[in-house]
Amino acid sequence: MIKDKDKAAASLLPLAELHCHLEGTVAPELALRLGHRHGLDLAPLVDADGCYRWRDFAEFLHVYDAMSAAIRTAEDYYEITADYYRRMAAKGMIYGEVFVSPEHGMRAGLSYSTLIEAIATAMADVEAETGVVARIVITCVRHFGREHAEETAHLAAQFPHPYVVGFGMAGDESMGAPADYARAFAIAADAGLGLTAHAGELCGPESVRATIESLPVSRIGHGVRAIEDAELVAELVDRGITLEVCPGSNLALGLYPSIAAHPVRRLHDAGVRVTLSADDPPFFDTDVAREYEQVRDAHGFDPADMLGMTRRSIEAAFLDSATRDRLLGRLDKADRIETGRRGML
Ligand code: ADE
Ligand code: ZN
Repeated sequence: MIKDKDKAAASLLPLAELHCHLEGTVAPELALRLGHRHGLDLAPLVDADGCYRWRDFAEFLHVYDAMSAAIRTAEDYYEITADYYRRMAAKGMIYGEVFVSPEHGMRAGLSYSTLIEAIATAMADVEAETGVVARIVITCVRHFGREHAEETAHLAAQFPHPYVVGFGMAGDESMGAPADYARAFAIAADAGLGLTAHAGELCGPESVRATIESLPVSRIGHGVRAIEDAELVAELVDRGITLEVCPGSNLALGLYPSIAAHPVRRLHDAGVRVTLSADDPPFFDTDVAREYEQVRDAHGFDPADMLGMTRRSIEAAFLDSATRDRLLGRLDKADRIETGRRGML
């Protein structure tokens, strides 16, 4: 029997997300509960309105790390993963990759394998309940340095798991040069993982250029500041590099004054493979459904354009071909329904 909630989800625009940090999905209320569970007082991280308390990128990273310290057990990882994907499935998500920085749980004494197994079990359980497919991108943190990046890549390579499909780099992009992390990315590439790195978020187009020249990535996290360099935009188009664009995050961190001023439309119109994601949803008062909505409304994208965003995400996902084809089949069906709806107007 098809339940009402499944019918509702099936009638929503199918959404896919490639850029979301698992630790960054934890809403303040859940963070406080996790803190309470482990005897950590996280109240100073949350303001009177129940929002995370930060004013600039440095404070954001600080609050993010402090909050992540409350995610300590396999049960915690299961809970935050299941919570996120249940909420997103109800909003129409069909596919979501999350960045996982294993050192948070490992610092609390969890083994890498236990942590990954807890996340993957939650993903499999929520897929069985809702149909949303989820996968993991193991992520090093740039400002923790090159050795940490190589250790993280070694872990991903040594303990393969069918749900661990990629390797990425987040953190402060002003620290070091992308070439410093070439070995970490080579280890991950040899292990058959898909590759992505944050660049062109707080630093300019030169950061994107250095990243694509030094690291064999097929995707860039953010990359929006590439728009400041026309030759670089052409190069992204030529190489077919996908941008994981997170407009709400960019606005919250002060890159652009409004969604109308965001370069998502210009990048798309130049032929860059643009996709949409929420980055750290509760930190930026957003989620991927909200990202789709605000981009559609502010930039006049039509339903076919929005389905195109999801199609590009599935095409750029670090997925095996059978799962990719299955998800593309779901999109073809949504496309036929949308075309039929337009025909009736
Ligand atoms: N880690 C979590 N969110 C991030 C962001 N927006 N940029 C860099 N590192 C991050
Ligand atoms: Zn990010």
